[in-house]
Amino acid sequence: MNAAIRAVVRTALVRGVTVKGIKKGYQGLLNEEIIDMKAKDVSDIIQRGGTVLGTARSMEFKTPEGQKKGADICRKHGIDGIVVIGGDGSYRGAQALSRQGINTIGLPGTIDLDIACTEYTIGFDTAVNTAMEAIDKVKDTSSSHERCSIIEVMGRNAGYIALWCGIANGAEDILIPETYDYDEQKIINNIIANRKKGKTHHLIINAEGIGHSVSMARRIEAATGIETRATILGYMQRGGRPSAKDRYYASIMGAYAVDILLQGKTNRVVGFSKGEFVDYDIEEALSMVKGIDEYQQEVSRILSI
Ligand code: F6P
Repeated sequence: MNAAIRAVVRTALVRGVTVKGIKKGYQGLLNEEIIDMKAKDVSDIIQRGGTVLGTARSMEFKTPEGQKKGADICRKHGIDGIVVIGGDGSYRGAQALSRQGINTIGLPGTIDLDIACTEYTIGFDTAVNTAMEAIDKVKDTSSSHERCSIIEVMGRNAGYIALWCGIANGAEDILIPETYDYDEQKIINNIIANRKKGKTHHLIINAEGIGHSVSMARRIEAATGIETRATILGYMQRGGRPSAKDRYYASIMGAYAVDILLQGKTNRVVGFSKGEFVDYDIEEALSMVKGIDEYQQEVSRILSI
């Protein structure tokens, strides 16, 4: 997200526009936590995880009164265009501000990759690489001890991190909220069959949305007689130095958001689709549905033989 913030600030300045930063999201807007931003205020941040502006959830901004207050505060501070980084909730807020006359552009920011209008979301590449490296390490000990390992990755409603790690780490089973059938016996049978074939480890990537990795490990160990351990990777996936891909895409998207704002566009979301940076009306973006690709899931099963 810092790469996007830097790109927004510097592109706007080069285009001759004054820039302000709103700290802590919509709640910060309501609290008037608004700061001036110059080119040097965003130097040395592109390599940092998280967001230098901070983030917060705001119940007040979900109300019509809060949204009107937010728009009035924007006008008071001379803000006539806002770039918002986030997911569906952030876009609903942007839509509300746009209706109140403040031009808004959304950038797709989530490690979950679950924004339908775009093939890329800021943070996903870093998160999936962080998880992949951690899983490689767990796999080493799993193979050495001939154990089964359940590794829980983030994704409360979306299985993209789990699917990507499952393929990138060579997992035997991948459990994701979109398609898991809760048939634990099938997993147990798979573990036993693989052990008979001579596999020394069994790696299960479990998405946060399925959860219960520790109790699952206990049940699997009891049913198979094979030592089974659970590892929950948690918030380490949300921080750390961003990958080159994240820095690059976030930079282009940040600049793109400013340029379409300056063309007078509002109520739009930036995305990346079929090799191009694009933008959609927020309503249209929110109505799109993104499923897990069945062929990619099939490949993950084929490769785990
Ligand atoms: O958006 C990323 C994500 O990690 C989701 O997978 C998860 O549902 C959510 O954030 C958890 O965030 P929090 O613990 O802050 O509610």
